[in-house]
Amino acid sequence: MTWGAVIVALWCAVTGINGLDNGLALTPPMGWLTWERFRCNTNCERDPENCISEHLVKSMADRMASEGYRDVGYEYVIIDDCWLASERDQNGRLVPDPNRFPSGIKNLSDYVHSKKLKFGIYEDFGKKTCGGYPGSEFYMQTDAESFADWGVDYLKFDGCNSNLYDFPAGYEAMGFFLNKTGRQIFYSCEWPFYKIVYGHSVDFAAVRKTCNLWRNYYDVEDSWSSVSDIIKFWGNNSDIFNKYAGPGGWNDPDMLILGNFGLSYEEERVQMAMWAIMAAPLIMSNDLRRMRSSSKALLQNRNLISINQDKLGIQGSMIQKQNGIQIWRRELSMNRIAMAFLNENSDGTPRFLSFSLVDLKLTSSTYNFTEAFDMKMSSLVTEQKPLEMYVNPHGIQLFVAREIVA
Ligand code: GLA
Repeated sequence: MTWGAVIVALWCAVTGINGLDNGLALTPPMGWLTWERFRCNTNCERDPENCISEHLVKSMADRMASEGYRDVGYEYVIIDDCWLASERDQNGRLVPDPNRFPSGIKNLSDYVHSKKLKFGIYEDFGKKTCGGYPGSEFYMQTDAESFADWGVDYLKFDGCNSNLYDFPAGYEAMGFFLNKTGRQIFYSCEWPFYKIVYGHSVDFAAVRKTCNLWRNYYDVEDSWSSVSDIIKFWGNNSDIFNKYAGPGGWNDPDMLILGNFGLSYEEERVQMAMWAIMAAPLIMSNDLRRMRSSSKALLQNRNLISINQDKLGIQGSMIQKQNGIQIWRRELSMNRIAMAFLNENSDGTPRFLSFSLVDLKLTSSTYNFTEAFDMKMSSLVTEQKPLEMYVNPHGIQLFVAREIVA
């Protein structure tokens, strides 16, 4: 443990930090975030519409409100890295880049709130953010106070340029300072991700006590290989972290990238359905000003959203994988079960699949299976009659099953 961590640990002991208790995240958060689509584009002269700026954030808030996203539950509008000026001010306070955020963060958050949305921001636990801007090390209390003063509702707290051994005490300390402001601030952490990729073990119970959301794996990128790799990691590690998800705190497989350049329609269906099964945050990163109607319809599909937001908050897991077909299962409220059949194969023709109740580990004699994207087509599956379907390459079928009691 470094001296910094010792000091933070002592501070926690003296002040009686005992975990997160902010009443938030009863279901996975929903919103929009700059990073995957807009990255660290700071060149507003060359690219005024897409650079990280108050203009970009306001125009996304406008679309969230006017294009139906807010009405189906997307509520947070979050700026990721690259919003800061290169130095703190003379009082040690964070300042936004003056050219890109000329009205200041408080005005921007007021604007987002005026659209009946919530406002989120990014900082980093270490000396500098991943993009090289001032980090919160040695300034956590000051920064938590700035965020509260500015009306921030959500903090994404990254872990670049820091000491991995300081994470538990440091992330706890920031949670404490956020709570101490008296403002309800959703707390999203990257603590497990850096630990996992550097081969450290993770105390998920401590993470859950501290954070409302925690990233476990690499950044999502705009491709099928990235999305399917994240799904694979989740499937292979369900036993390790699934049980920590539930009302108050969630595992984070990263942003929804529907509407960008890299996914086909089938692949977009996969991401949306799998994020529902995994009780994942529905935080989009895309350009809401330029959405294909098919992507928008998937993002706003109330049936998928209601599976994602199911109030029991049980994260689904992979129950079988064979010949490139993954079967996933999530227990839902009202004795329903969501089941997904994902075809990873690229061989160009839809796969015919047939499963008995025993294959699906369903123990009663009759179930009603309803296709879950539209909730229009149902069929009975019994001990004599298997569940049958075609699944497109890089595609998915999702059902809600309900036991029929004779
Ligand atoms: C890390 C995070 C990303 C994003 C960038 C910003 O890579 O994992 O989600 O926040 O930093 O620099």
